[in-house]
Amino acid sequence: MRLAIVGLQWGDEGKGKIVDYLAKNFDVNARYQGGSNAGHTVRYDGKKVIFHQVPCGVLSKSVTGIIGAGCVLDPKILLEEIDNLRKYVDKVEERIKISKFCHLIMPYHILIDEIREGTKQAIGTTKKGIGVAYEDKYGRTGIRVGDLFRAEFFEKRLRINISRKNLILMDIYNAEPLSDNEIFDLYMRYAEKLKDMVVDDTKFLNDAITAGKNILFEGAQGALLDIDFGTYPYVTASHTITSSVGIGLGVPPRSVEHVLGVAKAYTTRVGQGPFPTEDSGQLGKMLRESGAEFGSTTGRPRRCGPFDAGLIRYAARIDGVTEIVLTKLDVLSGLDKIRIAIGYENAEEFDPFNIEHLTPKYIEVPGFKRDISGARSPDELPREARDYIRIIEDYTGLKVRYVSVGPERDAVVEM
Ligand code: GDP
Ligand code: IMO
Ligand code: MG
Repeated sequence: MRLAIVGLQWGDEGKGKIVDYLAKNFDVNARYQGGSNAGHTVRYDGKKVIFHQVPCGVLSKSVTGIIGAGCVLDPKILLEEIDNLRKYVDKVEERIKISKFCHLIMPYHILIDEIREGTKQAIGTTKKGIGVAYEDKYGRTGIRVGDLFRAEFFEKRLRINISRKNLILMDIYNAEPLSDNEIFDLYMRYAEKLKDMVVDDTKFLNDAITAGKNILFEGAQGALLDIDFGTYPYVTASHTITSSVGIGLGVPPRSVEHVLGVAKAYTTRVGQGPFPTEDSGQLGKMLRESGAEFGSTTGRPRRCGPFDAGLIRYAARIDGVTEIVLTKLDVLSGLDKIRIAIGYENAEEFDPFNIEHLTPKYIEVPGFKRDISGARSPDELPREARDYIRIIEDYTGLKVRYVSVGPERDAVVEM
């Protein structure tokens, strides 16, 4: 079985939790886009582990994690993450593979991202250098993981890049220049530490497919942050949708046999950009507090509001999703009534070009009072919670396959 897990909203839907929950059935878990902007949280046995670069499935001992060609890699963050993971799993580095094609995030990418975020150009990025690294990739001046192992090429390209970036830093941003010698030495030290993990991911994965291995493709961010189909320009710099799997790993499109979309039982967004169902009043505050809605990567408070079925219909269309995982349903318990946006008063359907003008059309459904975090089967959910799930199915046209009722690994109801 080859399954892709993708976010259907603006990220942070709980993809990490679901990947970890399903991982025990898989041999390989591959990330195909994004980088250290991702923050995927896994909770088990009371422990909390946040993944930025490493696929979450590696907590299951059968799983090999791949950081694919379509990702961008910050070696510093990866090495810190591996060090932290050693507390939980033995020899985890032996099960982590990095594509030689994957582009490196360099110190100048991070610095320029940080500086731009202080200007009118700001969009509320995670300041991890993601957009600037992808700019260099498409500008054909990027440096790839494989380049670390041809030192002469690496050094030449690095020196040219730094001299160009220093012009931008000094002349446009009035900032201090960077030292190419220091960065060269630093990345050579990283190369030494990473060398045993570097592979040709296209070979590794195509061989795994031929051998009939079970592969879990782990998306980062969400459909509305997709560079083309998201709420541009308030998006990330990669393709977050299912089609990105093939491009990001060098495998054919048919490699994805099944897709599960992950959607929160409400909506959140972190960073700037339009958000039709945003609630800046009591409900938004309650969701942020009960759902602990603070960014896993930056700690920023997430903007919150009701579930938006129109947005999910749009995301499901571009992601090829027919089944979803509805997460954080437990966060809604205690509400007398729950508001759901079933569509828009002034538009047929969700349209990123018209998003600032969309007025959500709400219905109100009865809430549920009791704590549902202990439920493990549909009949352990209150009737109102089951009704809420059915209403979401009706208005999205999607089957809710799993419901997540708490952050812990086993807090899942299979419907
Ligand atoms: P991701 O980026 O999609 O992996 O999501 P994040 O990890 O950034 O954010 C999801 C947050 O919600 C994390 O803190 C999870 O531990 C938590 N979480 C996931 N599923 C549930 C759930 O069903 N209920 C509750 N209360 N928390 C959840
Ligand atoms: P996961 O994988 C939520 C948002 C940022 C910003 C925009 C661009 O944990 O769901 P970037 O640093 O990528 O250039 O920022 O995208 N963003 C995310 N929001 N979850 C994420 O990842 C995100 N990754 C980026 O907040 O609005
Ligand atoms: Mg996250």
